[in-house]
Amino acid sequence: MTLRIELRSAILALSDALDLVGVNDFQHGKRVAMIARETGLLLGLPEKRLDRLVCASLLHDLGVSSTALRRRLLRLADRDERQVHCETGYRLLQPFAHLSLVAKSIRYHHTPWCELPGDLGEIDALESNLILLGDRVDALLLQRGLENPLFNRVGIVDDIAALAGRELSPEVVAAFVAASACEAFWIALVPRHVQRYLNDLLLTDWRMSIDFPQFGHVARLISSIVDAKSPFTAAHSLGVAQLARFLGERAGLAADVLAEVEVAGLMHDVGKLCVPDEIVEKPARLTPLEFSVMERHSFETYQILSHIPGLEQVAEWAAFHHEALNGHGYPFRRSAERLSREARIVAVADVFQALAQERPYRGRQPADEIPRFLNHFVRQGVLDPDLVALAIDNLDASWRAATMPPAERVAGLLPPAR
Ligand SMILES: [Fe+2]
Ligand SMILES: [Fe+2]
Ligand SMILES: [Fe+2]
Repeated sequence: MTLRIELRSAILALSDALDLVGVNDFQHGKRVAMIARETGLLLGLPEKRLDRLVCASLLHDLGVSSTALRRRLLRLADRDERQVHCETGYRLLQPFAHLSLVAKSIRYHHTPWCELPGDLGEIDALESNLILLGDRVDALLLQRGLENPLFNRVGIVDDIAALAGRELSPEVVAAFVAASACEAFWIALVPRHVQRYLNDLLLTDWRMSIDFPQFGHVARLISSIVDAKSPFTAAHSLGVAQLARFLGERAGLAADVLAEVEVAGLMHDVGKLCVPDEIVEKPARLTPLEFSVMERHSFETYQILSHIPGLEQVAEWAAFHHEALNGHGYPFRRSAERLSREARIVAVADVFQALAQERPYRGRQPADEIPRFLNHFVRQGVLDPDLVALAIDNLDASWRAATMPPAERVAGLLPPAR
């Protein structure tokens, strides 16, 4: 396996994916990263710790996949509900060698300074409190409107100063007051500038490249976030990945290509994070307007994945899962001659897994009903006939691959489910 991915681009892509969950707080994680880092700079934190702080801030809300929960958190949901996403984020990051570094500060990012556990350690305590600072500043900013942060900052500094010694450490508040005295601090929070601020950060400490099996862990993390969006999509990405791998094996793909196909399956629906829960869970046919929102998801998948250097091809296999051989799929209207075998495999696995799973508008299809649907899509010119034949010839094994609970999976590159 020769493919290597830089961890920094994987983290930035993950941050873009999390941004999609934002309702009217788009780029929340990025603004928190900027506020926390600028404050950390005035506290004299060394570059290495600032890099870590940025990574933790970008990912701090990775326990939130649902747009409904996102909205409640914006209105400062009650404490117990708030803590759930902190614990989820902590749990999700634990298994990953590099990212587990920031798991603890994410776990405590809503815990008041005066209540942080005594054994947390100075680095994690300060990091979690800086994230909380950024989170509170952004919430206050969002209440006033993001279109002109410099004008709308009035009152925010006073509100934050009032939290010193309770929710926020006095030294964090003092550094924030000093950092935010500068107009540029506020002007830089608008979308265009905050994006550039992050892209320009070298994040030297995250520049190491990880090999493809390790990147599989990041893909698994992304799939967990996407699959947690709704009970109707639970384990969908995992099932698609596992079935795509199985079909790829049967089709004779080489081992390194199989690993990439599996990763494409894990991440194919990452763009779905931008679709509001009410649309994903609607128990009826979507209106044309709702469908246009739903149709965006595979384009968003492409946008996020294709910007990870080294992942360009996998991005196509993942994002073309709603394309059709006859050219009538979406969103790129690719037709047979521009759809690789790997992309066709992910498309067949996606349809198969979705049929095997309950949806809000229909029940789960039993295994022996699935060939009828797949053959219908072949006749319509949507799915590849040879790959569908492979799935049907191996129906029981395909069904197991698509629906087996994660714990029972014979893992390719998937770490054991937690
Ligand atoms: Fe949060
Ligand atoms: Fe999809
Ligand atoms: Fe899907």
